Amino acid sequence: MKQTKYKIILIAGARPNFMKIAPLMHALKDHPVLDAILVHTGQHYDEKMSHSFFEQLNIPKPHINLEVGSGSHAVQTARIMERFEQVCFTEKPDMVLVVGDVNSTAACSLVASKLHIKVTHYEAGLRSRDREMPEEINRLVTDAITDLYITTSQDASENLVQEGIPVSKVHMLGNLMIDSLVAQLEKAAAIQLKLVDIEGESIDRNWQDTEQGYAVMTFHRPSNVDDQAALGALVEQWIKTAELLPVIFPIHPRTQNMLEQFGLLDELRSAPNIYLTGPLAYLEFLKLVSESALVITDSGGIQEETTYLKIPCLTVRPTTERPVTIWEGSNQLIKAEEIYTKAVECLGSSKASFRIPKYWEGQSAGRIVGLLESFADSSESND
Ligand code: UD1
Repeated sequence: MKQTKYKIILIAGARPNFMKIAPLMHALKDHPVLDAILVHTGQHYDEKMSHSFFEQLNIPKPHINLEVGSGSHAVQTARIMERFEQVCFTEKPDMVLVVGDVNSTAACSLVASKLHIKVTHYEAGLRSRDREMPEEINRLVTDAITDLYITTSQDASENLVQEGIPVSKVHMLGNLMIDSLVAQLEKAAAIQLKLVDIEGESIDRNWQDTEQGYAVMTFHRPSNVDDQAALGALVEQWIKTAELLPVIFPIHPRTQNMLEQFGLLDELRSAPNIYLTGPLAYLEFLKLVSESALVITDSGGIQEETTYLKIPCLTVRPTTERPVTIWEGSNQLIKAEEIYTKAVECLGSSKASFRIPKYWEGQSAGRIVGLLESFADSSESND
């Protein structure tokens, strides 16, 4: 019988990974059987895109940082693979656990699989059916070589089974992002928000005290922000929507770069009632969203967070890999040119039909660690 602990490398790469990894690292702390090693690929690396999340979510310092930084998809993926393979040679893990759908997810699962290391994918089975999204390719690649599938909703489990994955490998155990949200909501509510604009000047205009409340907006999908015509049409709608209520817009670095490149940033900055900030830390963003009247976004995770918070969410995308947020939650998919009219509709609508999906209650990490324990146990008895 094996005497050493079952070694699991957990991969964190980009901003939306961190709130999924945090509850797992906490649940695995000092575990008697499972030894958790945290590897940060360095896909995101800024203070605001990475470090502040580790601090606020109390994630232990990564054991290893691959420091890959930004690059084209191929460059970033290749760099992660090359560096992560060395880590696998040295650490000899029994399992690699990846989360989400970013380049780090696909790169690390590919490396592990080729070295015959078991791969667990948390957030498996989500499908937008839109192969123009880099994330969809990452999901398909990862799920093709995963050994243990953990899903966040029933529809994701059904997608996997339809693709031929045996039911016995698929486990619907809930939503880790909601674990982090539930754990931090009270702390977020208590903080004093001090917003700073993208030039570093403090925003002290009174955006919080309007009768209709305020909206929060985030955009970073390449399909929305990398194309000049698409981004120009969005800017027009954003400015019009700000006639309805104040709009707080924490800008992703990709979006700020593209606005600058297309000469659209000054128009947006000088528009009344739109407040541009840099990316916010987790608690600040949670406070902002949880007290908002409306969210307008193209993010994946924010569709889930607004569903839990029962805040109406307008997602400016043709598809979503998270349809449960529409069937049960507060989300709807819209076109760019509909932002203003849908915002008017949302602000006057009831929230009575919004529901929270099964197991999105803050207890997912415990269920997942339970599954990992029994998987480790069964691999040991097969040794
Ligand atoms: C990545 C993920 C996306 C996720 C998003 C969340 C992939 C394919 N995409 O997209 O699924 O929703 O993260 O943010 O994995 N940059 C910085 N500082 C950083 C990181 C990036 O300034 O810490 C800038 C760089 O100019 C970089 C650009 O942002 O080129 C885009 O970053 P990148 O990681 O390539 O993709 P995201 O758009 O962030």
